[in-house]
Amino acid sequence: MAEQTAQSGRLAGKVAIVTGGASAAGLGFATAKLFAQEGAAVMLTDISPAVKDRLEDFPDGSQVEAMQQNVQEESDWIATFDAARARFGSVDVLVNNAGITRRDPIDEMSFETYRSVVDTNLGGTWLGCKHAVREMKRSGRGGAIVNIASISGVVGMRYSSPYGSSKGGIRTLTKVVALETAQDGIRCNTICPGIVHSDIVSPVQEKNPQAFQVLLDGIPMGRLGEPNDIAQAALYLASDDARYVTGAEIAVDGGYTAQ
Ligand SMILES: NC(=O)c1ccc[n+]([C@@H]2O[C@H](COP(=O)([O-])OP(=O)(O)OC[C@H]3O[C@@H](n4cnc5c(N)ncnc54)[C@H](O)[C@@H]3O)[C@@H](O)[C@H]2O)c1
Repeated sequence: MAEQTAQSGRLAGKVAIVTGGASAAGLGFATAKLFAQEGAAVMLTDISPAVKDRLEDFPDGSQVEAMQQNVQEESDWIATFDAARARFGSVDVLVNNAGITRRDPIDEMSFETYRSVVDTNLGGTWLGCKHAVREMKRSGRGGAIVNIASISGVVGMRYSSPYGSSKGGIRTLTKVVALETAQDGIRCNTICPGIVHSDIVSPVQEKNPQAFQVLLDGIPMGRLGEPNDIAQAALYLASDDARYVTGAEIAVDGGYTAQ
């Protein structure tokens, strides 16, 4: 079964690490599941031990492992790449998806809060890029890095000063990494998701339908994104279909940032 999947998929023969995959409703798990369906071997990580619960949600025959990892800790990145290499041989794809947000006006926010968001989102992605580039150069196989930013890193959104700063930083980091590694067969690209159906958004829909409608009215396509909308973009960027694409960014936002 695993072999059949591996021979037919768009990621056949590739090994991927996907961070931030503990939530069944999140973008990381949706991406990891699609990657596995497309033939990749997947190492799914998260700071939460619940990441191991996700293993049973993968299709039969998937090659998948789960482990705890704090993306802010360089030693955890080393352990993650070591584990992926030991289990699957090498690493061809990294999806830097783990992220957090904290919302408050800037004059009411502590610097500690700012730092925790930037250290997780931007610092974690920086460390991921560093160790992916090392691994992909070492293997000589090249590879693809997909960084998950946000429309909040493209346009300003109130009360998201650390989140927006971190996501804007990820967009620039992606381009720098792309330039530094273009000669090594490594590609690095960004996805900027719009507002995606998630555990965070669903309560707004239930408790405040009016606020939810205002949210929808701001999206040209008139609906929220689904995790699989983001996963499909990640699949494209991770696959050889995107072999000439590096340093680019794809907005998957129903047209939000086209306005
Ligand atoms: N949902 C949206 O509307 C939306 C929009 C734009 C961008 N994004 C981005 O997409 C990514 C996934 O978001 P999501 O909506 O699936 O949220 P989510 O909360 O379900 O997923 C994020 C995961 O990251 C993990 N995480 C947090 N800190 C970590 C750390 N230090 N080390 C390792 N893991 C850590 C969390 O435990 C969580 O499982 C995030 O980077 C987020 O900023 C989401």
